[in-house]
Amino acid sequence: MTKILIQGGLIVTATDQYTSNILIDKGKIVSIGENLFTDSDVKIINAEGLLVFPGFIDEHTHMAMPFNGTVTSSWETETIAAAVGGTTTIVDFAKQDKGESLLDTIALWKNKANGNTAIDYSLHVAITDLTEQVIREIPPVVESGVSTLKLFMAYKGEIMMDDEALLTILQESKKVGALVMVHAENGDVIELLQRQLIADGKVEPKYHATSRPIVVEAEATRRAIALAKVAEAPIFVVHVSGEESLEEIRRARSNGQPVFAETCPQYLLLDESYLELPDFEGAKYVCSPPLRYKFNQEKLWQGLFEGSLQTIGTDHCSFNFREQKRLGLDDFRKIPNGVNGIENWLQLLYTFGVQTGKISLNKFVELTSTNPAKYMGLFPRKGAIATGSDADLVLYDPTVSIKITAQNQKQNSDYHLYEGFEVQGIPRYVLLRGEVIARDGEYVGNLEQGRFVSAKPFSAAYGTVQS
Ligand code: URP
Ligand code: ZN
Ligand code: ZN
Repeated sequence: MTKILIQGGLIVTATDQYTSNILIDKGKIVSIGENLFTDSDVKIINAEGLLVFPGFIDEHTHMAMPFNGTVTSSWETETIAAAVGGTTTIVDFAKQDKGESLLDTIALWKNKANGNTAIDYSLHVAITDLTEQVIREIPPVVESGVSTLKLFMAYKGEIMMDDEALLTILQESKKVGALVMVHAENGDVIELLQRQLIADGKVEPKYHATSRPIVVEAEATRRAIALAKVAEAPIFVVHVSGEESLEEIRRARSNGQPVFAETCPQYLLLDESYLELPDFEGAKYVCSPPLRYKFNQEKLWQGLFEGSLQTIGTDHCSFNFREQKRLGLDDFRKIPNGVNGIENWLQLLYTFGVQTGKISLNKFVELTSTNPAKYMGLFPRKGAIATGSDADLVLYDPTVSIKITAQNQKQNSDYHLYEGFEVQGIPRYVLLRGEVIARDGEYVGNLEQGRFVSAKPFSAAYGTVQS
């Protein structure tokens, strides 16, 4: 394997910005500095004028996942889209089927991914059926390199878990250092409100949001935090959508509880008015929790800035409009929940976060690479530009702007959530373990390249994680 020298770029990490050179050998960063000794067997990439970021990590994706009566887009198309946009690792949710062993779920997910992924991946396991066997499996699951367990407090009748199950998982996870993640919405309340809305003839997409007001999310967030306190375990709340839930997290953290949380680009950049688009187009924006009133966006940016929210993940859960979203034409409850966004999330956050001054360039890297790596047990192999780390790098040209359109996307969907958004900057080179996998928006790798990355238990990584 040829060595690679990345020359003269502005290296941006979660803490530093400096101009230097990076030498890569056998997929790893071997040195960083001014006068690096190189032999003739070295390929030079000129990075002058480019920002050199650690490969971005999307800790929240749903690839090829059966959900709401259909299946999300494939590993092949969506990881290629991720790669061209600068994401070099995802952490995908392996969702347990009823009665299935967790180890089988993980094996099934690896089977789907291996040979079909453009980028590296790690896994969370989503528990949907808590049996004695599942409880016994938690230690071997963590030993197998899957150290984050997810529970849904919503989607009643499908995958919702009750408080007893959540407390049990928190207690069992704590014993082996696993981190529990929660989708926090009160599924009982949502189901009742939905039945009432439908009985009143309120079937359009906008009633999806009416049936899931933020108080229902905030209540579940508070409950999950309370159960974590009972278990004396850490907890990670996914896709925080607005102020009231954020307040619950802020309060717990200010009391010293190890509560961590993520928000997503859609909650920072879109609002619930999109659900009212005519001709059923609002269905494109149906996700859970739903998009909120616009004022929540500023609150979430503030939460990121001050550290109450530690990461951003896309919750990429992509369905097409023509067949899949249309399943709910006569009943919003049947619209598959989920949106796309993995291709352009970094450009969007760079443009609307960094360029507007809401977050610094270092904070941008912390939220989208370094912290996801730390919380998901992948640091410092991932999420860092340091000697010994995987040479996952994104060489970003901030001088170019593009307009996002579905026509030009690599995501396999007939719409783009951010249609018409103008973004600043494009990844010129994306490297995965020292190999160029994307160049100027085109994928140049092969689907054998992506590998499973084992996650360390959260307790082992906790020393590196800021609380
Ligand atoms: O609507 C969403 N978020 N779909 C994906 C599944 C989940 O709840 O994360
Ligand atoms: Zn969720
Ligand atoms: Zn999700």
